[in-house]
Amino acid sequence: MYQAQITGTGHYVPDHVVTNYDLSKVMDTSHDWIVERTGIHERRWFEAGKDTVSNMGTKAALNALENAGLEAGEVDFIIFATLSPDYYFPGSGVLVQDQLGIDNVGALDVRNQCSGFLYGLSVADQFIRTGMYRTILVIGSEIQSNIMNKSSEGRSMAVIFGDGAGAVVVQRIEEEGRGILSTHLHSEGKHADKLIVKEPSTRHKGQILERLIKGRNNDIYPYMDGKYVFKHAIKRFVEVICEALDANGFEPSDIDMLIPHQANLRIAQFVQKKLNLPDNSIWNNIQRYGNTTAGSIPIALSEAHHAGKINQGDLVCLAAFGSGFTWASALIRW
Ligand SMILES: CC(C)(COP(=O)(O)OP(=O)(O)OC[C@H]1O[C@@H](n2cnc3c(N)ncnc32)[C@H](O)[C@@H]1OP(=O)(O)O)[C@@H](O)C(=O)NCCC(=O)NCCS
Repeated sequence: MYQAQITGTGHYVPDHVVTNYDLSKVMDTSHDWIVERTGIHERRWFEAGKDTVSNMGTKAALNALENAGLEAGEVDFIIFATLSPDYYFPGSGVLVQDQLGIDNVGALDVRNQCSGFLYGLSVADQFIRTGMYRTILVIGSEIQSNIMNKSSEGRSMAVIFGDGAGAVVVQRIEEEGRGILSTHLHSEGKHADKLIVKEPSTRHKGQILERLIKGRNNDIYPYMDGKYVFKHAIKRFVEVICEALDANGFEPSDIDMLIPHQANLRIAQFVQKKLNLPDNSIWNNIQRYGNTTAGSIPIALSEAHHAGKINQGDLVCLAAFGSGFTWASALIRW
């Protein structure tokens, strides 16, 4: 068995900054409400004609490859996590394969929303452990600004979510005790309707477009039962981090850096307090980007890594919770 290690990190966010004050001009909300409930000050929105989910993923991937000191041609497999793909089909992973100009490597799309990046990382870990591949790109990218209802009606969701992409290079290493130590994946589908976009759906009778344009259909917008999601998130985050620590014989105090999915600053602060982590052992950037779903962990990981906050030998924990519900963690000896 081989070990898999993250050898490069990268990210890309659109240039267009949207502050809470900008939002308060188009919907009934305020900077203070948003900061108090979520910690968010601003987010990025994509620029049509410039940014796409796949090309933002490609830019993040190129940044990660450069960080790893690799050329695109050295990649053997691509894993792409998103809930906002370029197309209904094909997936965005194949578009990245084309944009990077890598010769006919496999490309897999993962649809696990906020846990998507960690599900993808887990797949990469398994492929490398078995010897099937040596170098895998795992990418998370989202454009959510054009999915939201940006009126007062949609304010509880529209203020939270943002656009952006992150990526890592995962490579085979032959060093015991280093690299991805374990990953832990969970789901509980009975909560599917608590955080959901119902349309377009194949469930109903009639051609999708005809049905949708017949009348105003709010099911095309994301729906979230915020309090319900919050309650489950704080429980599952702590559980899945402790599961990873227990599986490897560590205590919370052994964590050098926790990168939680950037769902809500209050959730991250709850988890930090519960695990008794000092401020320099957790990385939060939701203040600047909002919740970028599958992009959030790789963007935060890349920022922390590039800022010199993650160094060789550090114990790094990644943890996510989101729609599904799904939740996951990964423990890495950097
Ligand atoms: C979404 C969330 C911030 C809302 O906070 P909350 O305290 O639950 O707020 P509520 O939904 O109860 O709304 C409280 C009031 O604020 C209003 N409100 C909602 N969104 C608002 C906004 N953007 N601006 C101003 N007021 C808003 C509501 O209409 C409600 O008004 P009312 O009391 O007159 O009915 C919170 O539930 C949350 O963070 N949930 C978890 C979200 C999350 O992490 N999701 C991602 C998981 S991957």
